[in-house]
Amino acid sequence: MEDPAQVSKFSEPFNDLASGIISIPINLPGTPFRRGIKAAETVRKELMGIIKQRKIDLEEGKVAPNQDILSHMLLATDENGQFLNELNIADRILGLLIGGHDTASASITFIVKYLAELPHIYNEVYNEQMEIARSKQPGELLNWEDIKKMKYSWNVACEVMRLAPPLQGAFREAIHDFTFAGYSVPKGWKLHWNVNSTHKNADYFPEPEKFDPSRFEGNGPAPYTFVPFGGGPRMCPGKEYARLEILVFMHNVMKRFNWEKVLPDEKIIVDPMPMPAKGLPIRLFPHKA
Ligand code: HEM
Repeated sequence: MEDPAQVSKFSEPFNDLASGIISIPINLPGTPFRRGIKAAETVRKELMGIIKQRKIDLEEGKVAPNQDILSHMLLATDENGQFLNELNIADRILGLLIGGHDTASASITFIVKYLAELPHIYNEVYNEQMEIARSKQPGELLNWEDIKKMKYSWNVACEVMRLAPPLQGAFREAIHDFTFAGYSVPKGWKLHWNVNSTHKNADYFPEPEKFDPSRFEGNGPAPYTFVPFGGGPRMCPGKEYARLEILVFMHNVMKRFNWEKVLPDEKIIVDPMPMPAKGLPIRLFPHKA
């Protein structure tokens, strides 16, 4: 369980951090870039404290070497037997926090939004989740078999990420000359791929504006057309974790509540991920027992 004090201590620099990453790189007071740099310093300092304490705990045998990714990073060595230094580890953890936090929270926010807007979809997801909930003993936790049964729920989450992808794409730059499939690619060549070139393309997703989770049934969309997590060797390494996080969230919230939006016409802003402008206030209705 997260400690709420820790979450709130981190959340402000965290928002600035994310905004700073996708900003114009002008380091002047008051700019998102400057706030991003300051926020990174704050979070890095916190992380350095956690890393130092973890080193002590590992030395004293108070935590297991395979406890989590931080322990793994502290104990991993390169081919020369060198450990990663603490700052390097802090930056890698920072990368994971940024990559994993806002993306998943944007997806979850839009799932909540679409389910409020589309009661027939809500009902289908609810039925799937309740069948799983009913098969459990009181207090029994979800297991991997349950997650595998959440097929319709994941199709809904995918359709949400097709229409409202947390990341719009990524940049690539060739760092040396190379040849690929008979094409010469010179050093410095730049590529920017954008999800919407396929996600909103009627050739791959007929009636692209229509919310239709059945697109993901069977073999699903053609390879490299549904790419909220990117594709190829640099594809998001957190995809399976994100799937788990999203489905566990859907299960636990939907078995307890239905909801409606407080602001029917709330605007969507992009900062740096798409988000409802007022944070999507909702009214929760507990299910009758
Ligand atoms: C719904 C949630 C998520 C979405 C939509 C998402 C999307 C993406 C995308 C589009 C990329 C860029 C891929 C590319 O450059 O081709 C990426 C990279 C990355 N993601 Fe995610 N991500 C999500 C969750 C996570 C989580 C939970 C973690 C970690 C716990 C994570 C860690 C990373 C990392 C470390 C990279 C950089 C990989 C590299 O450059 O090799 N992501 N993600």
